Amino acid sequence: MMKRYIFGTPILDTESVIHKPEPQQGDIPYFGCEKGETGVKFQYTMEKDKPVYGLGENVRGINKRGFRYVSFCGNSSMHTESLERMYCAHNFLIVDGETRFGVFVDSPGRVVFDIGFVNPDEFIITSELTDFEFYIIEGNSLREIVRSFREIIGQSYIPPRWAFGYQQCRWGYESSNEIREVVAKMKESGIPLDSVGLDLEYLDNYKDFTINPKDYADFADLSKELKEQGVRLVPIIDAGVKIEEGYNVYEEGVEKGYFFKDKDGNDFVGAVWPGRCHFPDFLRPEVREWFGNHYKYLTDMGIEGFWNDMNEPTLFFTERGLKEAMSVVDELRDSQLDIPRRRRLLQAVNGMANNLKDYQSIYHQIDGKMVSHDKVHNLYGYNMTRSAVEAVDKILPNHRILMTSRSSCVGMHRYAGTWQGDNYAWWSHILFNLKLMPSLNMCGFLYTGADLGGFHTDTSEDLLIRWLQLAVFTPLMRNHSAFNTRRQEPYLFQKKDIMRDVIRIRYMMIPYLYGEFVRCALESDMLFRPLAFDYEGDEVAAQIEDQMMVGDALMIAPVYTQNARGRYVYLPEDMMMVRLSSPEHREYVQMEKGHHYISAELHEMIFFLRTEKMIPLAEPGLNTDSMDFDRIELLCNVKEQGSCTVYVDDGFARDYENPAYYTTIQTVRKDGRLSVEQNGKKLSLVITDCQNQKL
Ligand code: GLC
Repeated sequence: MMKRYIFGTPILDTESVIHKPEPQQGDIPYFGCEKGETGVKFQYTMEKDKPVYGLGENVRGINKRGFRYVSFCGNSSMHTESLERMYCAHNFLIVDGETRFGVFVDSPGRVVFDIGFVNPDEFIITSELTDFEFYIIEGNSLREIVRSFREIIGQSYIPPRWAFGYQQCRWGYESSNEIREVVAKMKESGIPLDSVGLDLEYLDNYKDFTINPKDYADFADLSKELKEQGVRLVPIIDAGVKIEEGYNVYEEGVEKGYFFKDKDGNDFVGAVWPGRCHFPDFLRPEVREWFGNHYKYLTDMGIEGFWNDMNEPTLFFTERGLKEAMSVVDELRDSQLDIPRRRRLLQAVNGMANNLKDYQSIYHQIDGKMVSHDKVHNLYGYNMTRSAVEAVDKILPNHRILMTSRSSCVGMHRYAGTWQGDNYAWWSHILFNLKLMPSLNMCGFLYTGADLGGFHTDTSEDLLIRWLQLAVFTPLMRNHSAFNTRRQEPYLFQKKDIMRDVIRIRYMMIPYLYGEFVRCALESDMLFRPLAFDYEGDEVAAQIEDQMMVGDALMIAPVYTQNARGRYVYLPEDMMMVRLSSPEHREYVQMEKGHHYISAELHEMIFFLRTEKMIPLAEPGLNTDSMDFDRIELLCNVKEQGSCTVYVDDGFARDYENPAYYTTIQTVRKDGRLSVEQNGKKLSLVITDCQNQKL
């Protein structure tokens, strides 16, 4: 059951929900509701110890209970537990218990979720806007509630298959020759690679849709040359447009009046990487069309993937903030910097970035009205990315592209994926990466992953290995780091062979991951599910946040502790443990429901295959283009009988439901041996019967 309530007169349709039920009148179920001049407050008394799930990209655990979270997209440079908000605003949650329901706050402005923080049993939602929509979603199971929600917000973005390959990125690849070198060294070391992310260096002075004329002068050749080797370039695009006479994007935007304004109607000025910038008013369709069409500059050079950044939007400073900070600096220059003065100084300087006063001083034009940005802030990243996708879909029809965005709200999941922002080379961030997966999946973001190895600070060999082992399963598998950190391309490490084998394991898993991904997108399911979503009623499973169901057939339990040579794992049912150190070196151990300590040396990773399940695997290649996905190894954990569906398309097609892409496979055990029957697209099959291959 889906119930929709409208409060006041929303400024605009956020387009988060595209299949809207008729609005309800009367009281909202479950919540007490208080409407005030400055917002609306909802209150619910939670059942003791019962979890609350959701909120997409936000800090802390899978069970969100016990903290306060804010939805107001921010450039969150340090992902600590006390942060309260990250880059995205994903306002969907499920309250679990005897009474169980989902709630979605469809507001483009700031919303605060106090989930038992001030008072342990009180769940309080405060919307700072008085005009917004509110949904209650009922269902029998957690998965069913998610499904109902996902059905109203529309089908998740499906990237091309090559986007499931390994991606190497770094802020600091200074020239096209350096990119060539990275690609060559990956190849020399036998490490698969599907794409290289290009950060700011490829741009001419940080200007969108330009090319660095000195160091990347041969960009088009580079793109062509690498694609011939099965490697694609994925350039970054930032939200801010540099103010510079003669720069086409800037001049067109000014001339057409497409940038957002200050209160006097002048183009608003804020600083990002290029220094002072204007910002496209992406909430206007004509602006989206204009900016999106500029991506053609890059698609014409063979580019098929992008990452959209700084689109919260981040503002390093504005004239107002700078002036205020400078005057405090001047005033305090010669003073004794005692505690209060020092604090004032730091606040003035640090407070320049992403200041609410600045967001309040920006204006959008919505239906002929001037609306201050803070009221629609959370829609910015979403609409920047939508601008890109709407345009590129026309430029390259019938061709799926890779698109990710740092900032988003619900709705953007139909257009693109999201990477999890500027994390650290911390062991705790491996676990955080894992915990974000199901929360993001609940909100429709299936294509996601974190900066592997850690973006900030120096990584270490063991950290990167363990992180890659988790990332074997995350749809986005991208190693990315900041310019001032230790280089972290796998071939640079002593144990590069371990990294190579982990990445090869990922390529082996692509048929399963990609097929399950497409299924989850089409069926509004979650690829990553906490155990509680599959084993309802199992009290132990309900508390586990470091193991996860991935797709229909697997459970994963990554090692994320430094120096650990294994870990404790809880099996909610009998499963087959698969321990591997490479695609070719695997061990199968039948295990019983319950608690186990499982050893996994640094070069080993583990996953668990459920009973009566099978997964399709491929022979890994150096990139996805060179692999034969019609030749499948079926890894079977079948005692009596099992069935599975294998999905093989060309990696680009959009007619996902075309029966030509599906093979249904049934296996039955007779006299100890498995007999196999295929229906649909014929595949060349090799069967691995792990029941009979225990070592
Ligand atoms: C932002 C992005 C990061 C990127 C950097 C420079 O911090 O999150 O991924 O490398 O900007 O473009």
